[in-house]
Amino acid sequence: MPKERIDKMIASTTAHSRKEVKAMLREKRVLVNGNTVTDGAFKLDIAADTVCIDGVALPMKRYIYLMLNKPQGIVSASRSAAEKTVVDLVPPDLRRDGLFPAGRLDKDTTGFVLLTNDGDFAHRILSPKNHIQKTYVARLAEPITSEKIAVLQSGTTLRDGTVLLPASVKIIGEDAQTVQIKICEGKYHQIKRMLASVGNRVTELSRTHMGALPLDSTLAPGACRALTEDEVRKICEK
Ligand code: URA
Repeated sequence: MPKERIDKMIASTTAHSRKEVKAMLREKRVLVNGNTVTDGAFKLDIAADTVCIDGVALPMKRYIYLMLNKPQGIVSASRSAAEKTVVDLVPPDLRRDGLFPAGRLDKDTTGFVLLTNDGDFAHRILSPKNHIQKTYVARLAEPITSEKIAVLQSGTTLRDGTVLLPASVKIIGEDAQTVQIKICEGKYHQIKRMLASVGNRVTELSRTHMGALPLDSTLAPGACRALTEDEVRKICEK
């Protein structure tokens, strides 16, 4: 069960400073499941406990949204007996039951992975009908031509006959071998298969944005942090 210090949880959920929270606890104004708690170090089970301050229930942050800078060689799964997963990279204080990657990256793909325990949110941002773009930068084996870009932009048909929604593709490297691609679907190996369908090959792939939210450039590979409410909202911006 996820545990958090009560003083930290109240200070992060309300406008009260840590000092004010300590005073409230001392004044016996805080109840957990109906029992007075005075110790700021008391460990709350944030998935189950109810906290009241002056008789008013505090909305508990039961959901968490994390941004992870995925390194190569890590699998996008919640758990694996054989391999290290993106969830294994989450430090203990950010761990929650039910944490999973909202949208998978291949083992060799790097960059932005959103981890959450909020299934409805994940469904909302991943569903192609909501048109939330995921932005990738791909390094290609061959320079790409404007004709091939036009094919990818008009809605590629993959070699197995799968028809994709139109993508946005832009050359960002001088040698026409680095492209930025925006897609709002998440089909298996989608970008690699798109490029293969126009006779090219992806040699490196990284996800840089989810919706309008960029990967935090200060996050080292393998590091993760909680998103602010504003950042969570930005993911839903088109
Ligand atoms: N497309 C791919 O081919 N691989 C990824 O990891 C993500 C999108």
